[in-house]
Amino acid sequence: MTDIRTILHRTTRDLTAGGSPSPRLDAEVLLMRFLRMDRVQLCMQPERELSEEEAAGFARWVERRSLGEPVAYILGDKEFWSLRFEVNREVLIPRPETECLIEEVLRFYRPPGEGLRVLDIGTGSGAIGVVLARELPAARVVATDISPGALAVARRNALSQGVAGRMEFFQGDLFAAVSGDLDIICSNPPYIPEGVYDLLPVGIRNFEPPGALIASPDGVAFHRKIIREGAHRLKAGGRIFLEIGEGQRDRVAALFREEGGYGDIDCRKDYGGIDRVASARRI
Ligand SMILES: C[S@@+](CC[C@H](N)C(=O)[O-])C[C@H]1O[C@@H](n2cnc3c(N)ncnc32)[C@H](O)[C@@H]1O
Repeated sequence: MTDIRTILHRTTRDLTAGGSPSPRLDAEVLLMRFLRMDRVQLCMQPERELSEEEAAGFARWVERRSLGEPVAYILGDKEFWSLRFEVNREVLIPRPETECLIEEVLRFYRPPGEGLRVLDIGTGSGAIGVVLARELPAARVVATDISPGALAVARRNALSQGVAGRMEFFQGDLFAAVSGDLDIICSNPPYIPEGVYDLLPVGIRNFEPPGALIASPDGVAFHRKIIREGAHRLKAGGRIFLEIGEGQRDRVAALFREEGGYGDIDCRKDYGGIDRVASARRI
């Protein structure tokens, strides 16, 4: 029998065996999307039978999840800042912690952001750049990434969120393809130290792009370069916002101090209490 109740039960059992940390939730989320139902409909129709074709198609999704593939890649999207972002294996799945970086930018810059020129380095799915373009509707946003596959996804997200007209996308190493002065530089660069990568959960290691995650042995090579070059690219009074990994606060603060030309060096925590967003002002 393949009604919703049975499928949910069976999927939860299979995903538990596959090592998912949230098997029941995954089962519900996947089945809701597969059957194009919301949670209420799913609960109200436990006896709704799946056709053979539906059951076979859903079994393929469950198998992917059992092998550790993140739910977002199976669905093809992820919610970030209450917006739906397309994702695929070319891009990092946007994380909730990264919303703290956006909150921090918006603490200093109020809408509409008239005249502001913003740079998002390593834009991936476009999460940071697209959200800032929406929140600061008079600002212009430049987004760069080394990965052409990521830029293609970011462009589509800018289009679907209605901000493509105020965004520019460049492929290249950090600032290489960007000219002109900037008011705001933000980045969530790769920051997993080389030696730590092998310890990450299988869902990350086997599915997310390593080039989006791994940095130098100390994890802050990208921060170092962005801080150095940023000092020359920011207008006086402009600000830089960098996502950092756990334990990187003091090293990144030292990089700002050693570079010189920066003031208001600060760090805010994420909602898990971990230092997450380093920022500074170009004097
Ligand atoms: C941690 S991901 C962040 C993605 C997205 N900004 C987010 O917050 O979800 C880092 C991104 O930096 C890009 N990247 C890696 N090396 C780069 C480089 N040298 N220049 C520009 N982008 C780079 C990766 O392709 C990846 O998209």
